[in-house]
Amino acid sequence: MQKNIEEVLMRGLLTLRTLSSPEIMDIIELAIRFKKGWSINFPGKKMVNLFYENSTRTQYSFQMAMINLGITPLSFNLASSSVQKGETLYDTVRTFEALGVDGIVIRHTKDVYYNDLKTIKVPIFNGGDGTSDHPTQTLLDLMTIYEEFGAFEGLRVALVGDISHSRVAHGNAEVMKRLGMKVFVSGPEQFSDKTGEYIPLDEAVEKMDIINLLRVQFERHEQAMNITKEEYHRRYGLTSERVARMKKNAIIMHPAPINRGIEIASEVAECEKSRIYKQMENGVYIRMAVLTMALEGKL
Ligand code: CP
Repeated sequence: MQKNIEEVLMRGLLTLRTLSSPEIMDIIELAIRFKKGWSINFPGKKMVNLFYENSTRTQYSFQMAMINLGITPLSFNLASSSVQKGETLYDTVRTFEALGVDGIVIRHTKDVYYNDLKTIKVPIFNGGDGTSDHPTQTLLDLMTIYEEFGAFEGLRVALVGDISHSRVAHGNAEVMKRLGMKVFVSGPEQFSDKTGEYIPLDEAVEKMDIINLLRVQFERHEQAMNITKEEYHRRYGLTSERVARMKKNAIIMHPAPINRGIEIASEVAECEKSRIYKQMENGVYIRMAVLTMALEGKL
């Protein structure tokens, strides 16, 4: 997906598209060090999470990462903030910069919202923009794959489901291809785009190393799905029967939240091949790594 990205002089982490593969690996390696018990503290630092869209994992794992690093997280409540009086994203961010925060995490519905923030000097961490990117999700996905397989080159991944509405699919595919992975897409044609070569799900489950499921994003659909949830599950959902046909060492990933009984059978979410909760755990370490590198002037 070609985007007009102008943030190269901005600090923090806005997209992985402007980082080299070695730079991406540096973040993953630091996250692995944190997971193994290494620690660092930034007393006196303060950061804020600005979430203009709902979130559980990203918002609270950034908060957990801040606490683990001795950074004080400020709470921001969109519903009771001056955003409700019409304050723009720029003015809200400029306000927190003036208040003296050391970092700002932002999730926003607008693609590349950070192009409006080019004059902001405080590091900004993208918690998801429109349908473009979710860089810390991509990093935690890559960390999970790296822990499992020890490398990326030659691995086959199928992104399955609501590709066109998914910032995770678009962000993951770009970096995965750069790291030498073969990226396929599967699921309903209604949700397909050019993110990868199309493969039917029943073929994908037998050939892939990674089945990377995506949530059906009902809230982003302009038109209702033209099939029922039950029919979606039967045709495009990861059922136990499909899991039984996966390769011995293949794994299942999903950024979550999951729609049990739609893109994934409830019992599959916590089956032996599922790495969904490991992804969430790794998200804290990845966010610790990203915050640390920014505070050390490396991002
Ligand atoms: N995976 C993810 O971004 O989850 P949240 O929307 O809960 O943050």
